[in-house]
Amino acid sequence: MKFFIDTANLNEIREAQDLGILDGVTTNPSLMAKEGITGKDRVMQHYKAICDIVDGDVSAEVIATTFNEMIAEGEELAEIDDKIVVKVPMIKEGIKAINYFSEKGIKTNCTLVFSAGQALLAAKAGATYVSPFIGRLDDISVDGVALIEQIALIYRNYSYSTEILAASIRHPMHIIQCAEVGADVMTGPLSAINALFSHPLTDIGLAKFLADHKKAGTK
Ligand code: G3P
Repeated sequence: MKFFIDTANLNEIREAQDLGILDGVTTNPSLMAKEGITGKDRVMQHYKAICDIVDGDVSAEVIATTFNEMIAEGEELAEIDDKIVVKVPMIKEGIKAINYFSEKGIKTNCTLVFSAGQALLAAKAGATYVSPFIGRLDDISVDGVALIEQIALIYRNYSYSTEILAASIRHPMHIIQCAEVGADVMTGPLSAINALFSHPLTDIGLAKFLADHKKAGTK
């Protein structure tokens, strides 16, 4: 499973990249706003800065909601760097735009997906990635991981090449569960990735190994 980090924070992206297990980055307008990145020039520069750090795909979301505007905005974003994936919302105009980008060879990520029917439409339009938001489904008492499993079954039935990018990951169990049901990619916060490292028996075991080594050296 590929690991993407879901942030626009350059320090967090650097930290994840330094771990050597990062495969890409996803951003959205809320995450860009959280970093105080506003205005077209700054936004474009920030995407370039992210691309310069990470060795993999970088999702950059369009703000436009009409076909013509999405095309213009997406083409401009795609020109920033080969790593850019144009992130497009799951609306009718968005599906038309994904179809257009797909024919032009521009990578896309269909975002704000909350149902199997929406995922089916994204695959038919030729999206590179589909982003079901599992945390936001869990928030309203709908099983987000079950949706990933359902989409994986549908995509397998028809050999769709669209990759399932489990988004809105909140904690390490989400990552494990998505891996179990066959998500191609997960995107989550650095905290969820870092939590995967932790196990008390690892800490206890390492402390014992080092203590025994030190003791043996004093004999
Ligand atoms: O980038 C899209 C998605 O991962 C958002 O997550 O935590 O805002 O539901 P969240």
